[in-house]
Amino acid sequence: MKWKILIYMPLLLLTFFLPFKTADYMINKDTTKKEVTKEKEWVEKSIVDTTDIEEIPITETESTQKEEVVTESSNWWEYPDEIFETTRSGDDLLVLVNKQYKLPSTYAPKDLVLASTSGIRRGENYSLRKVIIEDLKKMINDSKDNGIDLSIVSAYRSYQTQVDTYNYWLNKNNNDVEYVDTFSARPGHSQHQLGTTLDFSTNEIGDALGDSFANTKAGKWLAENAYKYGFMMSYPKGYESITGYKFESWHYRYIGVFNATEAFNQAKTLELYLRGYNL
Ligand code: DAL
Ligand code: ZN
Repeated sequence: MKWKILIYMPLLLLTFFLPFKTADYMINKDTTKKEVTKEKEWVEKSIVDTTDIEEIPITETESTQKEEVVTESSNWWEYPDEIFETTRSGDDLLVLVNKQYKLPSTYAPKDLVLASTSGIRRGENYSLRKVIIEDLKKMINDSKDNGIDLSIVSAYRSYQTQVDTYNYWLNKNNNDVEYVDTFSARPGHSQHQLGTTLDFSTNEIGDALGDSFANTKAGKWLAENAYKYGFMMSYPKGYESITGYKFESWHYRYIGVFNATEAFNQAKTLELYLRGYNL
């Protein structure tokens, strides 16, 4: 009998204490797994009509900005070592303008007109190429029919304006080139120089420019319908390592209805679609 107790007692004790130990482990594991995710903050600021400054990132602390960038992927915001001139003319709707291919400093479109000729709100302050006006007008009219309000907060920017814009952001961010390169194009590298690119906003956010546009009725409507009118979002979410820029829900480039529809049907981003026609 005694020898039986000697064998069964340790087994009994083990069965009794094991559940406590396991629960303890699971609680600890849960606590350590908790991740603190920092929301990206952006200053929402209306753009004064007299400036061409846009895309206002928020006044985060430097360390937060760096942390956030590092966790996203490798150095997607960096420019390649070799930079070339665009393979197509700036007048060509399919010209690829990105971090590797830049427009000549002398390039300026010759058919600029006021954006207001399309009927878009705040359009009297900005210029766009005439070739995009007809489709933009259709888009504005159809958006209105769907109860959507669209306004414009930036459009054509000359090479010199982009010099000023990029320098403005550098000055504002202690010359932190790496940070500024995540959201502002260096001169020659901006699609705004083409005159076919614009930044949208809406009355829902007081015509401000920034991240909150993505969640507005207008932002959602554009994301779904813009291609039908020839427009594509240039820097979509999750494609930072391909485009080289942070998600910009407000920045659209016109490439024509046929091309935008083809890109949509092929489920391609603007960047990859254009590479197919330029490289
Ligand atoms: N914000 C875009 C990348 C530009 O500066 O053209
Ligand atoms: Zn833009």
